Amino acid sequence: MERLKDKVAIITGGGTGIGKATADLFAAEGAKLLLVGRMEQPLKETGHSYCTADIAISEQASAAVETAVDMYGRLDILVNNAGILLPEKPLTDIDEATLDETLRVNVKGTLLMSKYALRKMFVQRSGSIVNVASILGLLGAENEIAYTASKGAVISATRAMATEYAKYGIRVNSVSPSVTETRMIRELFGREPELEEKLFALHPMGKVGTPTDVAYAILYLASNESKFVTGQNLVLDGGRSIYGG
Ligand SMILES: NC(=O)c1ccc[n+]([C@@H]2O[C@H](COP(=O)([O-])OP(=O)(O)OC[C@H]3O[C@@H](n4cnc5c(N)ncnc54)[C@H](O)[C@@H]3O)[C@@H](O)[C@H]2O)c1
Repeated sequence: MERLKDKVAIITGGGTGIGKATADLFAAEGAKLLLVGRMEQPLKETGHSYCTADIAISEQASAAVETAVDMYGRLDILVNNAGILLPEKPLTDIDEATLDETLRVNVKGTLLMSKYALRKMFVQRSGSIVNVASILGLLGAENEIAYTASKGAVISATRAMATEYAKYGIRVNSVSPSVTETRMIRELFGREPELEEKLFALHPMGKVGTPTDVAYAILYLASNESKFVTGQNLVLDGGRSIYGG
């Protein structure tokens, strides 16, 4: 039995990494998809339906939601996966453009996509939103203050949205992955092999996660299997936070 049979889902940042793994898993579980992302080429290569949009521009976020509803007649699931991690410095030296762009995409983008999706889900009186936060939103990290702040905001906004919309049959949860081996991370390990060892050592399991590990958690929270779960943050970190990171 397919776990998302005929459910209509938007996945932002669906062309790469965790978003793509989620898209492939959702499709295998019977979902009807619209991937939303900034760059066309990776979206096209997935073979799933897509539209290009900057999620943090109101008109584009709204148009993406309308596209899904025009295509499939409803919207059951929104996965707010798109996000950015820019090179950062200590707060005393951070440049304002990095601060602005990180908060714009990770916080404003997530909230705008949710705003337009919730309008549809509100009319239907059903829906599930899954936000991709990060373990850093709980633990904090040196030299990643804007990213850490943005993901902390995603976790608390998840709880606020869940409270606001529970009575309308809409659930909102988040996942907080630790280091996840996407292409970007593998390239980084290639350039700095000592970093690989350092990051592996942070995880009691002695390894980092895969995009599929995260995708299965998103699947659970998106599907009816979690129908009594809302406002929660599911941590995927190989035990990293047991000892406080
Ligand atoms: N990889 C990790 O170690 C890790 C750990 C914790 C959390 N995360 C989070 O997981 C999510 C996915 O990241 P990933 O690791 O797969 O990286 P990624 O860079 O492959 O994916 C991010 C996607 O978001 C898209 N995107 C960025 N800005 C956008 C915008 N303004 N509008 C539309 N699309 C936009 C990008 O085009 C890309 O496809 C992010 O929110 C990231 O913060 C990643």
